[in-house]
Amino acid sequence: MSRHPAVAEAPAQRFGDPLPDRLLDEGERLRPEELRALQLTRLQATLRHAYDNVPLYRRKFDEAGVRPEDCRSLADLAHFPYTTKADLREGYPFGMFAVPMEDVRRLHASSGTTGNPTVVGYTDGDLAVWSDVVARSLRAAGARPGHKVHVSYGYGLFTGGLGAHYGAERAGCTVIPASGGMTARQVRIIQDFEPEIIMVTPSYMLTLLDEFERQGVDPRRSSLRAGVFGAEPWTEEMRREIEERAGLHAVDIYGLSEVMGPGVAQECVETKDGLHIWEDHFYPETVDPLGEGPVAEGEEGELVFTSLTKQAMPVIRYRTRDLTALLPGTARPAFRRMRRLTGRSDDMIILRGVNVFPGQIEEVVLRQPAVAPHFQLRLTRRGRMDHLAVVVECRPDADAAAREVAAAAITAGIKDGVGVTATVEIVGPGTLERSQGKLRRIKDLRA
Ligand code: DLL
Repeated sequence: MSRHPAVAEAPAQRFGDPLPDRLLDEGERLRPEELRALQLTRLQATLRHAYDNVPLYRRKFDEAGVRPEDCRSLADLAHFPYTTKADLREGYPFGMFAVPMEDVRRLHASSGTTGNPTVVGYTDGDLAVWSDVVARSLRAAGARPGHKVHVSYGYGLFTGGLGAHYGAERAGCTVIPASGGMTARQVRIIQDFEPEIIMVTPSYMLTLLDEFERQGVDPRRSSLRAGVFGAEPWTEEMRREIEERAGLHAVDIYGLSEVMGPGVAQECVETKDGLHIWEDHFYPETVDPLGEGPVAEGEEGELVFTSLTKQAMPVIRYRTRDLTALLPGTARPAFRRMRRLTGRSDDMIILRGVNVFPGQIEEVVLRQPAVAPHFQLRLTRRGRMDHLAVVVECRPDADAAAREVAAAAITAGIKDGVGVTATVEIVGPGTLERSQGKLRRIKDLRA
């Protein structure tokens, strides 16, 4: 069997370098006008496939008075109705599938903490596309055939583990399927197996870094050179924290089960300037989160996706509730970028009329040298007012005076930067529960 051309060069590759042109895949080589033409053909086929095979889409299109053949340009997509999570739940479990069950090769599901879980299905073709986009994402992060990829995203109904896994195999890498948990053993495995790449949530990466230090091992001396972090919001401050402590390049990967899983969009390691959306498979729009209309490029809105190649479960104008802005492409000029997520509209706290995202608090907390990057947001009600308490862990070497300075600085930083009054409580090292995967920062105690 012939080896991939990149294997030979992998040892000489410097992490952080751009992907050589000859390693770009077919989709990445498209010129913008070729991409637009391909998107239109695929969009028209997807609308037809959804209308003909999914009763919910047929009903919604009919109610809106649109037919698949009304889509003659990409702009015509705006005439088609949105799809919401409630729509997907309505058909639980398999009502949104557009192919017979015998053609569905795999099922995944979202956690379903608030009602029926959303079930997603994949045909053989869907799984192949998913592997291709994750492989493309990994190359953008610096992975090359011959590298080892340690996957700490959870395996199971969650799309993170298996999505990352097959993508890494497709990229010609060797996969270490660690999944989440058993943190001490993961650190041991990383030292012994020497992976170059790790795929994990940023919060669980912090848990791993703490464990390295607990074992007296300097994570900067590990084999890891790049981390592909996603599945939850994180900030530039968190990127700096992880890069410095782990001595690697930290890049952002985005995705959601309803649209595919990880690999919908990926940040390129050489630019670290937001995530290129793999637009040959997922067509993005940004719209007013509280309304119906579009927002301009560069302005923040709710991200909406239409799948362009999915067979088992096409999604038409799916409202993600994720807030971001669309920007022109850079490292992959034909593809638009999405700015690092501000957060989910569901995670927004409204405190006396001010919208607050956990990421804004993270920015303030991580600027303080005396505290660790572990914090929790506790919401309570005092009388008729909501109250926010920010509980932050201090670093082991922080004395009482340093803790006091940090508390005052964080309180002031939240007041000035975010515009709300919060109580800041500094607690001892190791007090707060550590992430084992996707972290929920907000504890809502408002009964
Ligand atoms: O979290 C898929 C995934 C797995 C993405 C591994 C990246 C890495 P869900 O469980 O369906 O799927 O959750 C999707 O997670 O709508 C966002 O709110 C959030 N999310 C995902 N990636 C990012 C990211 C997976 N890079 C939801 N930054 C999405 C911020 C993210 N939030």
